[in-house]
Amino acid sequence: MCGIVGYVGAHNASDYLLDGLKRLEYRGYDSAGMAVLTPDGYRLARKTGRVSNLATAVQSAPMPGRVGISHTRWATHGGVTEANAHPHISSDGVFAIVHNGVIENYANMKNFLLQKGYTFSSQTDTEALVNLIAYHYAKEPENNGKNRFVESVRKALLHVQGTYGIAVLCKDHPGEIVAARKGSPLIIGLGDNENLIASDASALALKTSRVIYLKDGELALVSDRSHRVITTDDETVQTVVHQIEIGLEEYELGDFRHYMEKEIFEQPTALHNAMRGRFSDDSSTARFGGLNIDPHELRQIDRILLCACGTAWHACLVTEYLIEKYARIPVEVEYASEFRYRNSPLDKNTLVVVISQSGETIDTLAALREAKRKGFKVMAITNVVGSTIAREVDGGVYQHAGPEIGVASTKAFTSQVLIGAMIALYLGRLRDMSYSDGVAFVEALKMTPDLVSEVLNISDKIHAIAKNYAHYEDFLFLGRQNMFPIALEGALKLKEISYVHAEGYPAAEMKHGPIALVSEKCPSLFLVTDGEIFSKTLSNIQEVKARKGKVIVIASDCCEFPDGLVDDLIQIPSCHDAIQPVIASIPVQLLSYYIAVERGCDVDKPRNLAKSVTVE
Ligand code: M6R
Repeated sequence: MCGIVGYVGAHNASDYLLDGLKRLEYRGYDSAGMAVLTPDGYRLARKTGRVSNLATAVQSAPMPGRVGISHTRWATHGGVTEANAHPHISSDGVFAIVHNGVIENYANMKNFLLQKGYTFSSQTDTEALVNLIAYHYAKEPENNGKNRFVESVRKALLHVQGTYGIAVLCKDHPGEIVAARKGSPLIIGLGDNENLIASDASALALKTSRVIYLKDGELALVSDRSHRVITTDDETVQTVVHQIEIGLEEYELGDFRHYMEKEIFEQPTALHNAMRGRFSDDSSTARFGGLNIDPHELRQIDRILLCACGTAWHACLVTEYLIEKYARIPVEVEYASEFRYRNSPLDKNTLVVVISQSGETIDTLAALREAKRKGFKVMAITNVVGSTIAREVDGGVYQHAGPEIGVASTKAFTSQVLIGAMIALYLGRLRDMSYSDGVAFVEALKMTPDLVSEVLNISDKIHAIAKNYAHYEDFLFLGRQNMFPIALEGALKLKEISYVHAEGYPAAEMKHGPIALVSEKCPSLFLVTDGEIFSKTLSNIQEVKARKGKVIVIASDCCEFPDGLVDDLIQIPSCHDAIQPVIASIPVQLLSYYIAVERGCDVDKPRNLAKSVTVE
């Protein structure tokens, strides 16, 4: 949350600051701002709303300068106002800062600084930090030959409780940026006679593919031709330069109206990429290059803990179902935000797996650190190569789904679920799953992209259904067994992009409470598969109909329903139980998407949300 870009080099900084911000806007879009350092001091522009508002302001009042910092905000401390937008300038006018994170002890800092004569013009925690840097700068004019700018930032950071990714400018050091991180991602992009700072690599797409990932507790001094990294304890860090691949076209919208729509339709490719090269030569099991844990060790595992947030947590629920069914290993699923503070007892043979599209979600990162601190091996399923989670785990599986820009997760979710199924297969084959069951499983997995395409082909029909339901303000999503997590995911999708109240429930649990919501004003969407509980689910549908509730059903095409029971039926191909959750996700995503479009919602940037949640 919050995106940061910094530029120092031979070109006009504001061009790159704006371009980078546009690419980082998914991280927050409450306000945007930039500061450029000129010989006459800071030029500052801040606007509430989108980066486009800032771009218009900069266009009408250009901000020439070769060094600058910019920010797109997801508000934490202080409302969405221009005064609270970043950058913030220290009250003595020496420093400018952009910040991603939360300074937990900012109130104490602020009181201290007020007593020292510093003044404040915003309600943010960040302004306390920039004034604390100014305080240290003024306090120690000499620094034994050390860079006074760096030292002031370093000393201020020693007092910070909380998280930060920051980029700082100093009026007296016009060719330099100081960047630092703790808990919020930050990278240095190395160009030719120019360098950049950014929250993630997408912001660098036009400039460079050579990056240094800053680690927690590190601080960098960056100029146009050099960079130096130290720790906040003033120890020198040997940096490693990574070459990253960024396909610019992956960030383009093309003919789609929204990134969410594009990403829904990219799922056959994303799923294909999740499986590429990951089956054994005899096609009876999965194989993974990066688990860093040998089969013998995996056979000792007698419990798995899956941890994640939001949609990724729903992927954990599907994975739990699949691992328990196919590998017969007990699995527990925890919200990462709960796990990190719950101190739950873990058996020594527990494998911890975290799932995160961004690889930056702070709660998930904290959960993984907590598990590692306790001595557990931690694996990750993550999409973003080089993300903090990917770098801190013992091993894992990359999703290779391509960048997911839409705030509502779609292709990342189905690819996580598919990888969950592959892990279930792999673990199952290390235990009791037979060769022929393994072969059937692999065949089913390989069919997934085509089956997903089949469902995408009926998007017009789903759109037509969505039009009839777009005016409802309440929805129930109901499913049993492996369809229950998809019901939860469907409800989350609808909530986050349409602002429609929706609840996901196990279909049979409905009668223990949520059925009270059912009326002609609250439709129910049932996710139905064939099999032993089909008739039970039919009864649940009858219960809704009896109470005048409209019923949409997403069902395998082999399911037959009595006349008049279902108001709208969306048929999906029958398939292996392991891939049903992926196939059933597609109409759920499309329905939510089209309802949001019909309601005129800003699908890719829903209110109050951000793609990557890097605050607690
Ligand atoms: O990047 P992560 O997978 O760790 O993100 C977790 C959640 O913040 C994320 O899935 C969120 O719930 C999405 N907006 C759902 O569409």
